[in-house]
Amino acid sequence: MAERWRGRVALVTGASAGIGYCMAKALVQRGMKVVACARNIAPIQELAKELSDQSGSLTAIKCDVSKEEEVAAMFQAIRKDPNLGRMDVCINNAGLAHNAPLLSGEASQWKNMFEVNVLGLLMCSKEAFQLMRDSGVDDGHIILVNSMSGIRTVKSKGSHCYVATKFAVTAIREGIRNELREMKSKIRISQVCPGYVETEFVQRHHNEELAKAVYSSMKCLQPEDIRDAILYILDAPPHVEVNDVHMRATEQDF
Ligand SMILES: NC(=O)c1ccc[n+]([C@@H]2O[C@H](COP(=O)([O-])OP(=O)(O)OC[C@H]3O[C@@H](n4cnc5c(N)ncnc54)[C@H](OP(=O)(O)O)[C@@H]3O)[C@@H](O)[C@H]2O)c1
Repeated sequence: MAERWRGRVALVTGASAGIGYCMAKALVQRGMKVVACARNIAPIQELAKELSDQSGSLTAIKCDVSKEEEVAAMFQAIRKDPNLGRMDVCINNAGLAHNAPLLSGEASQWKNMFEVNVLGLLMCSKEAFQLMRDSGVDDGHIILVNSMSGIRTVKSKGSHCYVATKFAVTAIREGIRNELREMKSKIRISQVCPGYVETEFVQRHHNEELAKAVYSSMKCLQPEDIRDAILYILDAPPHVEVNDVHMRATEQDF
């Protein structure tokens, strides 16, 4: 990873499991000061102990990104911490799915998906940008962990609302880019759109049986594959803004 990120501050949302956990670990190992949030921070605290001999550091903050006051409090804590006090990289990874069809699903489940996948990501991106600006960072990077569901629909009624949230993320990626260019900022924004990744995602939000069926049907992407794509994005020279990375398991047929 580029030497210029060493000692700088990164936020990873949704870092208690899966892609976020893998990403937080990789950035600490590469010398960054990583703030990692989730609702359950016990796994992050354990990881911090495991990584205590690394040059980077890991700070766990309990934050439900769908709650405006919790997002504000997390950024306030980062601003006030003399060891942090700035923002260089923001990886918006927290996300979830519910099985909630558009014509028969529960409104509470639609709401929860939009609150976490869209509004949470938007609030963290805004706060991250403002902290970058306030701390004089003009080469920062905002990264959105989107999905192949953010660029194409699938014939799976339980997923349609999740797909809608992820299409919104694609629109946000381009919208934030437009706003950054309008203000002549050199801060970059990128998104990664993976297909199936073997994490806790399917099990958490559908069930164990479906998770086993999905993950045994093919060699799925691994969290490390997404990590490597994000490291590639972060390593691109300052004049290169990687906009979208689309990646699927070779065997995934949709
Ligand atoms: N796995 C896939 O097949 C796949 C494919 C494409 C895209 N993605 C996207 O990749 C991202 C990460 O998913 P994953 O596969 O790593 O899933 P995962 O293993 O289920 O991990 C999800 C992470 O998000 C956190 N999270 C959920 N709701 C949150 C909230 N309200 N506030 C803060 N953190 C929250 C969870 O932590 P807590 O529960 O502790 O809060 C957990 O750390 C998501 O945006 C997902 O949409 C996944």
